[in-house]
Amino acid sequence: MSSKKTATLTFSDGSPSVEFPIYEGSVGPDVVDIRKMYGQTGKFTFDPGFLSTAACDSKITYIDGDKGELLYRGYPIEQIAQSCDFLETCHLLLNGDLPNRAQQKDFTYRVVHHTMVHEQMTRFFQGFRRDAHPMAILVGCVGALSAFYHDSLDINNPEHRHISAIRLIAKMPTLVAMAYKYSAGQPFLYPRNDLSYSANFMRMMFGTPCEEYEPNDVLVRALDRILILHADHEQNASTSTVRLAGSSGANPFACIAAGIATLWGPAHGGANEACLEMLDDIQAQGGVERIGEFIAKVKDKNSSVKLMGFGHRVYKNYDPRAKLMRETCYEVLGELGLQNDPLFALAMKLEQIALEDEYFVSRKLYPNVDFYSGIVQKALGIPTSMFTCVFALARTVGWIAQWNEMISDPDQKIGRPRQLYMGPVRRDVMPVDQR
Ligand code: SDX
Repeated sequence: MSSKKTATLTFSDGSPSVEFPIYEGSVGPDVVDIRKMYGQTGKFTFDPGFLSTAACDSKITYIDGDKGELLYRGYPIEQIAQSCDFLETCHLLLNGDLPNRAQQKDFTYRVVHHTMVHEQMTRFFQGFRRDAHPMAILVGCVGALSAFYHDSLDINNPEHRHISAIRLIAKMPTLVAMAYKYSAGQPFLYPRNDLSYSANFMRMMFGTPCEEYEPNDVLVRALDRILILHADHEQNASTSTVRLAGSSGANPFACIAAGIATLWGPAHGGANEACLEMLDDIQAQGGVERIGEFIAKVKDKNSSVKLMGFGHRVYKNYDPRAKLMRETCYEVLGELGLQNDPLFALAMKLEQIALEDEYFVSRKLYPNVDFYSGIVQKALGIPTSMFTCVFALARTVGWIAQWNEMISDPDQKIGRPRQLYMGPVRRDVMPVDQR
């Protein structure tokens, strides 16, 4: 990166000022390159939560939070959700462009023929209680995948990186469905090569050995769109975790397991599960009539109650994915004859009230991707505890694309932030009787 623009830092204590280069992206905010700041000034920058920090440069996903715009490799999410399927989106995120017909056939063939997991993987499940949270199972199993692929763990070998990406994209639906079947006490179903990616997942989730599973095309398309909407999202918490883990040279399976662990939190990918629980609670206490009381709790600083599925670090406008998710919600409920689903009606009323309330308006809090995704998934028959697993299934391609971009960068270094130390200065250990 070269630059003619600079930023000058001056100090009120008379320390010499320093200049830093400013770089421009193809779109979005400029960045001030402060990499030499500590060397030149003996001072660190301070940005807990990374509110103003670009941790890397990337060509994969771009978000304009003010406009509510999301681009995957330059294509607007609305167009991708309308015109592509999830595997095309995977090809786009991984390789930089949508596949032509031949590339689509080859990519699909490769993914389809890696959907089975090693038969020994089934043994891992026996060690979990049946009521284990499926995210606990998923973290464990994905990390354990590295034990099966000693032939492709050289992260500096592009072929090894590529086959690991294919294996992870291919095996996540199988592992997620296995986690669900285990909790339901039903037998695992093997993937089928004659079904599409999302139809295969729906069959492994809801099919049984006792009868043929007939995928419903509207529901399969809805699931495929849910996966597309969750596929990648710049340097969010879980993607940043995957990059940081990868910067140490850890294998891709371990890095994705770290990403899954981060996604689990209710402030991040766990929000869809928390959002549905929130809607269920309001419904149980009386539904729409109790919204005012709930909103009052959210606004009360002494309560830790948040309107789950609302707010976003980057979007200060409507999350474009939430709009598409609401449409998908409507389609699925219509297909299932659930147009009057009380939770959907409650969610839309809650959204309408919040968007008219000064507390949310002044803080630019809008629905995010998680606000409607729980209602759609519940209508598809996916249990609440599985929502974040489905999010992890979808985000695996984004994580591995970002990981691959970082590992391929010849200038990449191990991530090692510093700190502002506020603890005790040097002191001596006293004998126990003098402490
Ligand atoms: C995802 O980063 C990504 O891209 C994530 C994601 C992805 O695709 O990877 O988009 C997926 O994680 C979506 C977000 C899902 N999380 C939730 O829905 C949980 C509820 N949302 C909040 O926890 C919160 O909005 C965050 C975590 C999403 C963002 O938090 P920030 O950016 O740190 O903002 P903040 O907490 O500083 O909030 C600013 C103000 C605060 O009030 P004041 O201190 O100014 O009075 O807004 C308030 C917050 O209290 N606020 C909320 C709120 N979100 C923020 N108040 C009530 N309900 C909320 N949901």
